[in-house]
Amino acid sequence: MSTSQSGLSPEEELLKRVESSKRKAAYKAVKDYLDPSYKRIGIGSGSTVVYVVEAIAALGPDVTSGMIFYPTGAQSEELIETAGLTLQPINKLPSGQQLDVAFDGADEVDTRLNLIKGGGACLWQEKIVATAAKKFVCVADYRKLSPRLGISWRKGIPIEVLPMAAPRVLDELKRIGSENPKIRLGLPGKAGAIVTDNGMWIIDAPFPPLMFPDDDEKRERVQNAANGVWFVDDLADHLIKIPGVAEIGLFSGKNGQEVATGAQKPVAAYF
Ligand code: 5RP
Repeated sequence: MSTSQSGLSPEEELLKRVESSKRKAAYKAVKDYLDPSYKRIGIGSGSTVVYVVEAIAALGPDVTSGMIFYPTGAQSEELIETAGLTLQPINKLPSGQQLDVAFDGADEVDTRLNLIKGGGACLWQEKIVATAAKKFVCVADYRKLSPRLGISWRKGIPIEVLPMAAPRVLDELKRIGSENPKIRLGLPGKAGAIVTDNGMWIIDAPFPPLMFPDDDEKRERVQNAANGVWFVDDLADHLIKIPGVAEIGLFSGKNGQEVATGAQKPVAAYF
């Protein structure tokens, strides 16, 4: 096995670089976007968010004791509790109130801040928390930025579905140009489909790289052709309407003010 001057193998070097990038991004995002006056904070899921919570906890109880943290699933709940932060489920956020900010990771981020999320199968609750927040801060390591969604994250767009609807959803995905969409399986040694925190299944649906919503010339082409080439927002609108689809892992970068319930647009992506 080849090793570098540091004594690490290339794989270990890469892992170290990625972890350091996640950590740096997380600390910077918290420094820039967690105002000490904030009271309600959304916490996403995944390995990058571990560093977000670490950075928040490092601020100490003087800053964090007046804050309430809203999770996006079981992993995030445990993270918040283990860090000694105050936890509350999102259904306890009264109607008419918003989170001050939500931090979360992503699987891929394009240059317009459109995101693919759901690699950890938590996308439904992630979207609920993201859209409940005034600001959504995406924290991602350097590998995640790509010119178009679908270039670096090749596994496909995660789609949370009612299990009984899965075969019909797969049919529709193939019809609209997804290449080999698949039901996500459980961890090795665990038979069958992965089951989400909400009792649903995940379908991963790869599409050719997605275009931007404001490219008129290509929009015409896409509207006319059943060639499987989609704009982010067009595809999102179509996917969410398929019967049996609960939520999709496409997070639109379009202006958050258009989303009545909150700012779904990431205000920043950190790498
Ligand atoms: C989970 C997610 C995660 O934010 C995404 O998968 C990124 O995870 P990681 O920080 O481990 O790379 O959307 O559903």
